[in-house]
Amino acid sequence: MTDIIFKDNGPILVTGEFILKDTENGEFDVAGRTTIGLCRCGASENKPFCDGAHKRCDFESAVKARQLAPPAK
Ligand code: FES
Repeated sequence: MTDIIFKDNGPILVTGEFILKDTENGEFDVAGRTTIGLCRCGASENKPFCDGAHKRCDFESAVKARQLAPPAK
């Protein structure tokens, strides 16, 4: 099971079993981590990972779970 959690004013946490890949199918070596924070503020100097920069740039985004419209056909 993998959970993807949008932290208020912060990163996307991925927890559980996951594989992170780049666009060439290369896998990140996450050194056994079972939780990782992905930057969504754009300010990290270690993208795609969160380095705490969201606090310094006053990133604001709080999302609530909701139902999406069906995908376009
Ligand atoms: S979300 Fe943490 S550095 Fe961007």
